[in-house]
Amino acid sequence: MKYLNLVALATTALLVAGCTNSTLSKEELEQKIKQKEQLGKVLFFDKNLSKNRTQACATCHNPNRGFTDDRDNGIKAMASLGDNNKSLGDRQAPSAAYAMFSPKFHYDKESKQYIGGQFWDGREDTLAGQAGGPPTNPIEMGMPSKKAVVDRLKENPYYLETFKTIYGEDIFLSNEKAYTAMTDSIEKFEQTKEFAPFDSKYDRFLRGEYDLTPLEDLGRSLFFSNANNSCANCHLNKPEDSEGETFTNYEYHNIGTPINHELRAKNGVKDIDKGLLANPKVTDKKHLGKHKVPTLRNVAVTAPYMHNGVFKDLRTVVEFYDKYNNKERTINPETGKPWAEPEVEETISLEDLKAKKQNDRKIDALVAFMKLLTDKRYEHLLEEE
Ligand code: HEC
Ligand code: HEC
Repeated sequence: MKYLNLVALATTALLVAGCTNSTLSKEELEQKIKQKEQLGKVLFFDKNLSKNRTQACATCHNPNRGFTDDRDNGIKAMASLGDNNKSLGDRQAPSAAYAMFSPKFHYDKESKQYIGGQFWDGREDTLAGQAGGPPTNPIEMGMPSKKAVVDRLKENPYYLETFKTIYGEDIFLSNEKAYTAMTDSIEKFEQTKEFAPFDSKYDRFLRGEYDLTPLEDLGRSLFFSNANNSCANCHLNKPEDSEGETFTNYEYHNIGTPINHELRAKNGVKDIDKGLLANPKVTDKKHLGKHKVPTLRNVAVTAPYMHNGVFKDLRTVVEFYDKYNNKERTINPETGKPWAEPEVEETISLEDLKAKKQNDRKIDALVAFMKLLTDKRYEHLLEEE
Protein backbone atom coordinates (compact mmCIF):
# COMPACT_ATOMS: atom_id res chain seq x y z
CA MET A 1 0.00 0.00 0.00
CA LYS A 2 2.85 2.34 0.80
CA TYR A 3 4.15 1.91 -2.73
CA LEU A 4 0.77 2.74 -4.20
CA ASN A 5 0.39 5.91 -2.20
CA LEU A 6 3.78 6.99 -3.44
CA VAL A 7 2.74 6.42 -7.03
CA ALA A 8 -0.46 8.36 -6.43
CA LEU A 9 1.51 11.15 -4.78
CA ALA A 10 3.98 11.31 -7.60
CA THR A 11 1.22 11.40 -10.21
CA THR A 12 -0.59 14.17 -8.38
CA ALA A 13 2.66 16.06 -7.95
CA LEU A 14 3.20 15.95 -11.71
CA LEU A 15 -0.38 16.95 -12.47
CA VAL A 16 -0.34 19.82 -10.02
CA ALA A 17 3.12 20.97 -11.00
CA GLY A 18 2.07 20.83 -14.65
CA CYS A 19 -1.04 22.92 -14.02
CA THR A 20 0.10 25.61 -11.68
CA ASN A 21 3.86 25.56 -11.83
CA SER A 22 3.98 25.57 -8.06
CA THR A 23 5.30 22.86 -5.81
CA LEU A 24 3.06 21.53 -3.11
CA SER A 25 4.45 20.21 0.13
CA LYS A 26 4.02 16.52 0.96
CA GLU A 27 1.21 17.40 3.39
CA GLU A 28 -0.61 19.47 0.80
CA LEU A 29 -0.35 16.62 -1.72
CA GLU A 30 -1.66 14.10 0.77
CA GLN A 31 -4.49 16.48 1.59
CA LYS A 32 -5.34 16.78 -2.11
CA ILE A 33 -5.49 13.00 -2.54
CA LYS A 34 -7.75 12.68 0.52
CA GLN A 35 -10.10 15.25 -0.97
CA LYS A 36 -10.19 13.36 -4.27
CA GLU A 37 -10.82 10.05 -2.52
CA GLN A 38 -13.78 11.53 -0.67
CA LEU A 39 -15.20 13.12 -3.80
CA GLY A 40 -14.64 9.88 -5.71
CA LYS A 41 -16.58 7.97 -3.10
CA VAL A 42 -19.59 10.27 -3.41
CA LEU A 43 -19.43 9.94 -7.21
CA PHE A 44 -19.16 6.15 -7.03
CA PHE A 45 -22.48 5.98 -5.16
CA ASP A 46 -24.29 8.72 -7.12
CA LYS A 47 -27.26 7.48 -9.18
CA ASN A 48 -27.71 10.95 -10.71
CA LEU A 49 -24.92 10.11 -13.12
CA SER A 50 -27.26 7.75 -14.98
CA LYS A 51 -30.02 8.82 -17.37
CA ASN A 52 -33.00 7.70 -15.28
CA ARG A 53 -31.15 8.28 -12.00
CA THR A 54 -31.38 4.60 -11.10
CA GLN A 55 -27.76 3.47 -11.36
CA ALA A 56 -24.44 4.29 -9.77
CA CYS A 57 -21.13 2.50 -10.14
CA ALA A 58 -22.02 0.82 -6.85
CA THR A 59 -25.16 -0.71 -8.39
CA CYS A 60 -23.04 -3.10 -10.46
CA HIS A 61 -20.04 -3.01 -8.11
CA ASN A 62 -21.73 -3.46 -4.75
CA PRO A 63 -19.26 -2.87 -1.90
CA ASN A 64 -21.23 -5.36 0.20
CA ARG A 65 -20.57 -8.13 -2.35
CA GLY A 66 -16.90 -7.76 -3.19
CA PHE A 67 -17.72 -4.85 -5.55
CA THR A 68 -19.61 -7.11 -7.98
CA ASP A 69 -23.21 -7.08 -9.22
CA ASP A 70 -25.42 -9.25 -7.00
CA ARG A 71 -28.79 -8.09 -8.31
CA ASP A 72 -31.05 -10.92 -9.35
CA ASN A 73 -31.77 -9.62 -12.86
CA GLY A 74 -33.89 -12.68 -13.49
CA ILE A 75 -30.64 -14.32 -14.47
CA LYS A 76 -28.85 -14.30 -11.12
CA ALA A 77 -26.31 -11.61 -11.87
CA MET A 78 -24.68 -13.36 -14.83
CA ALA A 79 -24.61 -9.97 -16.54
CA SER A 80 -25.60 -6.46 -15.56
CA LEU A 81 -28.89 -4.76 -16.31
CA GLY A 82 -28.58 -1.19 -17.59
CA ASP A 83 -30.16 2.02 -16.28
CA ASN A 84 -33.04 1.62 -18.77
CA ASN A 85 -33.93 -1.57 -16.86
CA LYS A 86 -33.83 -3.47 -20.14
CA SER A 87 -30.37 -3.67 -21.65
CA LEU A 88 -28.45 -6.73 -20.67
CA GLY A 89 -24.78 -7.08 -21.47
CA ASP A 90 -22.99 -10.27 -22.40
CA ARG A 91 -20.35 -10.14 -19.65
CA GLN A 92 -20.63 -10.04 -15.91
CA ALA A 93 -19.20 -7.20 -13.84
CA PRO A 94 -15.77 -8.18 -12.52
CA SER A 95 -14.85 -7.00 -9.06
CA ALA A 96 -13.69 -3.41 -8.85
CA ALA A 97 -11.78 -4.51 -5.74
CA TYR A 98 -8.06 -5.12 -6.23
CA ALA A 99 -8.51 -3.80 -9.81
CA MET A 100 -6.02 -1.03 -8.99
CA PHE A 101 -3.15 -3.50 -9.19
CA SER A 102 -3.66 -4.34 -12.85
CA PRO A 103 -0.74 -2.74 -14.70
CA LYS A 104 -1.39 -0.45 -17.63
CA PHE A 105 -2.32 -2.50 -20.70
CA HIS A 106 0.86 -3.42 -22.60
CA TYR A 107 2.57 -6.06 -24.73
CA ASP A 108 5.41 -7.83 -22.96
CA LYS A 109 8.05 -8.73 -25.55
CA GLU A 110 9.78 -11.28 -23.34
CA SER A 111 6.75 -13.42 -22.49
CA LYS A 112 5.03 -12.47 -25.80
CA GLN A 113 1.86 -11.75 -23.85
CA TYR A 114 -0.54 -8.87 -23.53
CA ILE A 115 -0.74 -7.88 -19.89
CA GLY A 116 -2.92 -5.70 -17.68
CA GLY A 117 -5.55 -3.10 -18.43
CA GLN A 118 -9.15 -2.95 -17.27
CA PHE A 119 -12.17 -4.99 -18.46
CA TRP A 120 -12.19 -8.65 -19.48
CA ASP A 121 -10.47 -7.61 -22.73
CA GLY A 122 -8.17 -4.89 -21.34
CA ARG A 123 -9.60 -2.23 -23.64
CA GLU A 124 -9.13 0.52 -21.07
CA ASP A 125 -5.57 1.19 -19.93
CA THR A 126 -6.31 2.57 -16.46
CA LEU A 127 -8.99 2.89 -13.80
CA ALA A 128 -9.60 6.55 -14.67
CA GLY A 129 -10.03 5.64 -18.34
CA GLN A 130 -12.37 2.87 -17.27
CA ALA A 131 -14.46 5.13 -15.04
CA GLY A 132 -15.22 7.40 -18.00
CA GLY A 133 -16.96 4.54 -19.85
CA PRO A 134 -20.10 3.50 -17.94
CA PRO A 135 -21.86 6.90 -17.61
CA THR A 136 -22.19 7.31 -21.38
CA ASN A 137 -22.48 3.60 -22.25
CA PRO A 138 -26.00 3.08 -23.65
CA ILE A 139 -26.39 -0.32 -22.01
CA GLU A 140 -25.06 0.89 -18.67
CA MET A 141 -25.73 4.34 -17.21
CA GLY A 142 -27.04 5.59 -20.56
CA MET A 143 -26.22 9.32 -20.50
CA PRO A 144 -26.24 10.90 -24.00
CA SER A 145 -22.93 12.80 -23.69
CA LYS A 146 -20.14 13.94 -21.40
CA LYS A 147 -21.79 17.36 -21.30
CA ALA A 148 -25.00 15.77 -20.01
CA VAL A 149 -23.01 14.10 -17.22
CA VAL A 150 -21.28 17.36 -16.33
CA ASP A 151 -24.68 19.11 -16.28
CA ARG A 152 -25.77 16.58 -13.68
CA LEU A 153 -22.63 17.34 -11.65
CA LYS A 154 -23.48 21.04 -11.80
CA GLU A 155 -26.91 20.38 -10.26
CA ASN A 156 -25.19 19.55 -7.00
CA PRO A 157 -23.75 22.43 -4.91
CA TYR A 158 -21.36 20.01 -3.18
CA TYR A 159 -19.82 19.04 -6.55
CA LEU A 160 -19.67 22.65 -7.73
CA GLU A 161 -17.69 23.63 -4.68
CA THR A 162 -15.53 20.53 -4.28
CA PHE A 163 -14.50 20.27 -7.95
CA LYS A 164 -13.40 23.92 -7.87
CA THR A 165 -11.47 23.45 -4.63
CA ILE A 166 -9.59 20.43 -5.94
CA TYR A 167 -9.25 21.11 -9.67
CA GLY A 168 -9.36 24.91 -9.80
CA GLU A 169 -11.99 27.63 -10.24
CA ASP A 170 -12.12 27.14 -14.02
CA ILE A 171 -12.83 23.46 -13.99
CA PHE A 172 -16.44 23.74 -15.20
CA LEU A 173 -15.49 25.99 -18.13
CA SER A 174 -14.63 22.85 -20.09
CA ASN A 175 -16.93 19.81 -20.10
CA GLU A 176 -14.02 17.67 -21.19
CA LYS A 177 -11.85 18.79 -18.26
CA ALA A 178 -14.67 18.44 -15.73
CA TYR A 179 -15.41 14.92 -17.00
CA THR A 180 -11.74 13.97 -16.71
CA ALA A 181 -11.63 15.40 -13.19
CA MET A 182 -14.60 13.18 -12.30
CA THR A 183 -12.82 10.06 -13.56
CA ASP A 184 -9.62 11.10 -11.76
CA SER A 185 -11.45 11.30 -8.44
CA ILE A 186 -13.26 7.99 -8.96
CA GLU A 187 -9.89 6.42 -9.69
CA LYS A 188 -8.42 7.81 -6.47
CA PHE A 189 -11.34 6.31 -4.52
CA GLU A 190 -10.81 2.96 -6.28
CA GLN A 191 -7.18 3.08 -5.13
CA THR A 192 -8.01 3.30 -1.43
CA LYS A 193 -7.62 0.52 1.07
CA GLU A 194 -11.37 0.03 1.02
CA PHE A 195 -10.83 -1.74 -2.32
CA ALA A 196 -7.84 -3.77 -1.15
CA PRO A 197 -7.80 -4.46 2.58
CA PHE A 198 -5.65 -7.64 2.32
CA ASP A 199 -7.19 -8.90 5.58
CA SER A 200 -8.52 -12.33 4.55
CA LYS A 201 -7.74 -15.44 6.58
CA TYR A 202 -4.98 -16.15 4.08
CA ASP A 203 -3.35 -12.77 4.78
CA ARG A 204 -3.79 -13.36 8.50
CA PHE A 205 -2.18 -16.78 8.08
CA LEU A 206 0.83 -15.14 6.42
CA ARG A 207 1.10 -12.78 9.38
CA GLY A 208 0.91 -15.67 11.85
CA GLU A 209 -2.58 -14.70 13.05
CA TYR A 210 -4.56 -17.64 11.72
CA ASP A 211 -3.95 -21.41 11.64
CA LEU A 212 -5.01 -23.27 8.49
CA THR A 213 -7.24 -26.33 8.83
CA PRO A 214 -5.77 -29.52 7.32
CA LEU A 215 -8.08 -29.17 4.29
CA GLU A 216 -7.10 -25.51 3.75
CA ASP A 217 -3.45 -26.42 4.09
CA LEU A 218 -3.81 -29.18 1.50
CA GLY A 219 -5.58 -26.71 -0.80
CA ARG A 220 -2.76 -24.23 -0.37
CA SER A 221 -0.06 -26.71 -1.32
CA LEU A 222 -2.09 -27.96 -4.30
CA PHE A 223 -2.71 -24.41 -5.49
CA PHE A 224 0.93 -23.39 -5.43
CA SER A 225 2.36 -26.71 -6.63
CA ASN A 226 3.26 -26.69 -10.31
CA ALA A 227 4.01 -30.39 -10.20
CA ASN A 228 0.46 -31.08 -9.03
CA ASN A 229 -1.75 -28.39 -10.43
CA SER A 230 -1.98 -25.62 -12.97
CA CYS A 231 -3.45 -22.71 -10.99
CA ALA A 232 -0.13 -21.00 -10.29
CA ASN A 233 0.60 -20.77 -14.03
CA CYS A 234 -1.97 -18.00 -14.28
CA HIS A 235 -3.33 -17.00 -10.86
CA LEU A 236 -0.05 -15.94 -9.30
CA ASN A 237 1.82 -12.68 -9.49
CA LYS A 238 4.54 -13.05 -6.86
CA PRO A 239 6.60 -15.83 -5.29
CA GLU A 240 4.59 -18.33 -3.22
CA ASP A 241 3.16 -16.95 0.04
CA SER A 242 4.11 -13.31 -0.63
CA GLU A 243 2.07 -10.62 1.05
CA GLY A 244 -0.09 -8.54 -1.26
CA GLU A 245 -0.67 -11.38 -3.75
CA THR A 246 -3.60 -10.63 -6.09
CA PHE A 247 -3.89 -14.14 -7.57
CA THR A 248 -3.62 -13.13 -11.21
CA ASN A 249 -0.63 -12.59 -13.49
CA TYR A 250 -2.83 -10.18 -15.56
CA GLU A 251 -2.27 -12.24 -18.71
CA TYR A 252 -4.96 -13.22 -21.20
CA HIS A 253 -5.96 -16.85 -21.72
CA ASN A 254 -8.71 -18.96 -23.21
CA ILE A 255 -9.56 -21.75 -20.79
CA GLY A 256 -12.37 -23.14 -22.94
CA THR A 257 -15.29 -21.45 -21.18
CA PRO A 258 -18.54 -22.58 -22.81
CA ILE A 259 -21.28 -20.23 -24.08
CA ASN A 260 -23.82 -19.23 -21.45
CA HIS A 261 -26.95 -20.18 -23.39
CA GLU A 262 -29.29 -19.09 -20.60
CA LEU A 263 -27.85 -15.57 -20.78
CA ARG A 264 -27.77 -15.47 -24.60
CA ALA A 265 -31.45 -16.48 -24.67
CA LYS A 266 -32.19 -13.32 -22.65
CA ASN A 267 -29.86 -10.78 -24.22
CA GLY A 268 -30.22 -11.96 -27.80
CA VAL A 269 -26.48 -11.75 -28.47
CA LYS A 270 -25.44 -14.04 -31.34
CA ASP A 271 -21.79 -13.15 -32.02
CA ILE A 272 -19.05 -14.96 -30.19
CA ASP A 273 -17.27 -13.04 -27.44
CA LYS A 274 -13.95 -12.23 -29.14
CA GLY A 275 -12.31 -11.49 -25.78
CA LEU A 276 -8.85 -9.94 -26.19
CA LEU A 277 -9.35 -9.68 -29.95
CA ALA A 278 -12.22 -7.25 -29.24
CA ASN A 279 -9.60 -4.87 -27.85
CA PRO A 280 -8.90 -2.30 -30.61
CA LYS A 281 -5.14 -2.52 -29.91
CA VAL A 282 -5.08 -6.24 -30.70
CA THR A 283 -5.30 -7.61 -34.22
CA ASP A 284 -3.67 -11.05 -34.22
CA LYS A 285 -6.36 -13.75 -34.51
CA LYS A 286 -4.47 -16.01 -32.12
CA HIS A 287 -5.93 -13.87 -29.30
CA LEU A 288 -9.53 -14.75 -30.15
CA GLY A 289 -11.53 -15.75 -27.07
CA LYS A 290 -8.83 -14.97 -24.49
CA HIS A 291 -9.92 -13.16 -21.32
CA LYS A 292 -8.01 -11.43 -18.59
CA VAL A 293 -7.11 -13.79 -15.75
CA PRO A 294 -9.34 -12.54 -12.91
CA THR A 295 -8.23 -12.05 -9.31
CA LEU A 296 -9.29 -14.85 -6.96
CA ARG A 297 -9.66 -12.47 -4.02
CA ASN A 298 -13.24 -12.71 -2.66
CA VAL A 299 -14.06 -15.24 -5.37
CA ALA A 300 -16.08 -17.44 -2.98
CA VAL A 301 -18.61 -14.63 -2.43
CA THR A 302 -18.77 -13.30 -6.00
CA ALA A 303 -20.55 -16.04 -7.97
CA PRO A 304 -21.36 -16.65 -10.77
CA TYR A 305 -18.06 -17.38 -12.53
CA MET A 306 -16.24 -16.63 -15.79
CA HIS A 307 -16.71 -13.56 -18.00
CA ASN A 308 -20.20 -14.74 -18.90
CA GLY A 309 -21.24 -16.15 -15.52
CA VAL A 310 -21.75 -19.62 -16.97
CA PHE A 311 -20.92 -21.46 -13.72
CA LYS A 312 -22.81 -20.83 -10.47
CA ASP A 313 -20.71 -22.81 -8.05
CA LEU A 314 -17.03 -22.45 -7.20
CA ARG A 315 -16.66 -26.23 -7.01
CA THR A 316 -17.88 -26.53 -10.60
CA VAL A 317 -15.02 -24.27 -11.73
CA VAL A 318 -12.43 -26.55 -10.13
CA GLU A 319 -14.06 -29.66 -11.62
CA PHE A 320 -14.08 -27.88 -14.98
CA TYR A 321 -10.29 -27.42 -14.83
CA ASP A 322 -9.87 -31.06 -13.83
CA LYS A 323 -11.67 -32.25 -16.97
CA TYR A 324 -8.55 -31.31 -18.96
CA ASN A 325 -6.52 -33.88 -17.03
CA ASN A 326 -9.02 -36.41 -15.73
CA LYS A 327 -10.87 -38.69 -18.16
CA GLU A 328 -13.49 -39.49 -15.51
CA ARG A 329 -14.45 -35.84 -15.01
CA THR A 330 -16.96 -35.75 -17.87
CA ILE A 331 -20.12 -34.32 -16.29
CA ASN A 332 -20.94 -30.71 -15.39
CA PRO A 333 -22.38 -31.10 -11.88
CA GLU A 334 -24.71 -28.13 -12.44
CA THR A 335 -26.44 -29.52 -15.51
CA GLY A 336 -25.92 -33.24 -14.97
CA LYS A 337 -24.84 -33.35 -18.62
CA PRO A 338 -21.42 -33.58 -20.31
CA TRP A 339 -19.40 -30.34 -20.30
CA ALA A 340 -20.55 -28.04 -23.10
CA GLU A 341 -18.25 -27.17 -26.03
CA PRO A 342 -15.90 -24.21 -25.54
CA GLU A 343 -17.08 -20.98 -27.17
CA VAL A 344 -13.68 -20.75 -28.90
CA GLU A 345 -11.79 -24.01 -29.39
CA GLU A 346 -8.63 -23.11 -31.28
CA THR A 347 -6.84 -20.80 -28.81
CA ILE A 348 -7.18 -22.72 -25.52
CA SER A 349 -4.04 -22.54 -23.34
CA LEU A 350 -3.78 -26.34 -23.19
CA GLU A 351 -0.13 -26.38 -22.18
CA ASP A 352 -0.73 -24.15 -19.14
CA LEU A 353 -3.80 -26.18 -18.13
CA LYS A 354 -1.85 -29.45 -17.81
CA ALA A 355 -1.90 -30.90 -14.29
CA LYS A 356 -2.26 -34.15 -12.35
CA LYS A 357 -5.80 -35.45 -12.10
CA GLN A 358 -7.53 -34.42 -8.88
CA ASN A 359 -9.71 -36.60 -6.63
CA ASP A 360 -12.78 -35.18 -4.88
CA ARG A 361 -10.93 -34.40 -1.69
CA LYS A 362 -8.36 -32.37 -3.60
CA ILE A 363 -11.16 -30.50 -5.35
CA ASP A 364 -12.69 -29.72 -1.93
CA ALA A 365 -9.29 -28.58 -0.71
CA LEU A 366 -8.87 -26.11 -3.59
CA VAL A 367 -12.32 -24.71 -2.86
CA ALA A 368 -11.42 -24.40 0.82
CA PHE A 369 -8.24 -22.56 -0.15
CA MET A 370 -10.13 -20.08 -2.32
CA LYS A 371 -12.61 -19.44 0.52
CA LEU A 372 -9.60 -18.32 2.57
CA LEU A 373 -9.17 -15.42 0.16
CA THR A 374 -12.34 -13.72 1.43
CA ASP A 375 -11.78 -10.30 2.98
CA LYS A 376 -12.86 -9.99 6.59
CA ARG A 377 -15.87 -7.80 5.80
CA TYR A 378 -17.36 -10.58 3.64
CA GLU A 379 -16.61 -13.57 5.86
CA HIS A 380 -20.21 -13.64 7.12
CA LEU A 381 -21.34 -14.21 3.52
CA LEU A 382 -19.50 -17.55 3.42
CA GLU A 383 -21.86 -18.93 6.04
CA GLU A 384 -24.86 -18.19 3.80
CA GLU A 385 -23.52 -20.47 1.09
C1 HEC B 1 -24.70 -1.55 -15.56
C2 HEC B 1 -23.68 -2.09 -14.69
C3 HEC B 1 -22.40 -1.34 -14.49
C4 HEC B 1 -22.23 -0.04 -14.05
C5 HEC B 1 -23.31 0.98 -13.72
C6 HEC B 1 -20.80 0.15 -13.92
N1 HEC B 1 -20.13 -0.99 -14.26
FE1 HEC B 1 -18.14 -1.32 -14.10
N2 HEC B 1 -18.34 -3.04 -15.13
C7 HEC B 1 -19.53 -3.61 -15.52
C8 HEC B 1 -19.27 -4.72 -16.43
C9 HEC B 1 -20.32 -5.61 -17.09
C10 HEC B 1 -17.87 -4.78 -16.58
C11 HEC B 1 -17.09 -5.73 -17.49
C12 HEC B 1 -17.27 -5.28 -18.92
C13 HEC B 1 -16.29 -5.88 -19.90
O1 HEC B 1 -15.30 -6.49 -19.50
O2 HEC B 1 -16.52 -5.73 -21.10
C14 HEC B 1 -17.31 -3.72 -15.73
C15 HEC B 1 -15.95 -3.51 -15.51
C16 HEC B 1 -15.44 -2.61 -14.59
C17 HEC B 1 -14.07 -2.55 -14.14
C18 HEC B 1 -12.94 -3.43 -14.61
C19 HEC B 1 -12.45 -4.39 -13.57
C20 HEC B 1 -11.45 -5.38 -14.12
O3 HEC B 1 -10.89 -6.14 -13.32
O4 HEC B 1 -11.23 -5.44 -15.34
C21 HEC B 1 -13.98 -1.51 -13.23
C22 HEC B 1 -12.76 -1.05 -12.47
C23 HEC B 1 -15.30 -0.91 -13.15
N3 HEC B 1 -16.16 -1.61 -13.96
C24 HEC B 1 -15.60 0.25 -12.42
C25 HEC B 1 -16.79 0.96 -12.61
C26 HEC B 1 -17.01 2.36 -12.24
C27 HEC B 1 -15.98 3.25 -11.58
C28 HEC B 1 -18.30 2.66 -12.57
C29 HEC B 1 -19.01 4.01 -12.43
C30 HEC B 1 -18.44 5.12 -13.17
C31 HEC B 1 -18.89 1.46 -13.15
N4 HEC B 1 -17.93 0.48 -13.19
C32 HEC B 1 -20.22 1.35 -13.53
C33 HEC B 1 -20.78 -3.19 -15.12
C34 HEC B 1 -21.06 -1.92 -14.64
C1 HEC C 1 -4.13 -20.89 -18.46
C2 HEC C 1 -4.37 -19.96 -17.39
C3 HEC C 1 -5.19 -20.43 -16.21
C4 HEC C 1 -5.00 -21.51 -15.39
C5 HEC C 1 -3.92 -22.58 -15.50
C6 HEC C 1 -6.03 -21.45 -14.37
N1 HEC C 1 -6.84 -20.38 -14.59
FE1 HEC C 1 -8.44 -19.88 -13.51
N2 HEC C 1 -8.96 -18.47 -14.91
C7 HEC C 1 -8.19 -18.12 -16.00
C8 HEC C 1 -8.95 -17.25 -16.87
C9 HEC C 1 -8.47 -16.62 -18.16
C10 HEC C 1 -10.21 -17.09 -16.27
C11 HEC C 1 -11.40 -16.32 -16.85
C12 HEC C 1 -11.98 -17.16 -17.97
C13 HEC C 1 -13.26 -16.64 -18.58
O1 HEC C 1 -13.84 -15.70 -18.06
O2 HEC C 1 -13.69 -17.23 -19.59
C14 HEC C 1 -10.18 -17.88 -15.03
C15 HEC C 1 -11.22 -17.97 -14.13
C16 HEC C 1 -11.15 -18.61 -12.91
C17 HEC C 1 -12.16 -18.57 -11.88
C18 HEC C 1 -13.44 -17.75 -11.95
C19 HEC C 1 -13.21 -16.37 -11.39
C20 HEC C 1 -14.35 -15.41 -11.59
O3 HEC C 1 -14.34 -14.38 -10.88
O4 HEC C 1 -15.23 -15.63 -12.43
C21 HEC C 1 -11.71 -19.32 -10.83
C22 HEC C 1 -12.43 -19.56 -9.52
C23 HEC C 1 -10.43 -19.87 -11.21
N3 HEC C 1 -10.13 -19.41 -12.47
C24 HEC C 1 -9.65 -20.71 -10.41
C25 HEC C 1 -8.58 -21.44 -10.90
C26 HEC C 1 -7.99 -22.57 -10.22
C27 HEC C 1 -8.41 -23.09 -8.85
C28 HEC C 1 -7.01 -23.07 -11.05
C29 HEC C 1 -6.17 -24.32 -10.85
C30 HEC C 1 -6.94 -25.54 -10.75
C31 HEC C 1 -7.00 -22.23 -12.24
N4 HEC C 1 -7.97 -21.25 -12.11
C32 HEC C 1 -6.14 -22.39 -13.32
C33 HEC C 1 -6.91 -18.59 -16.27
C34 HEC C 1 -6.37 -19.73 -15.70
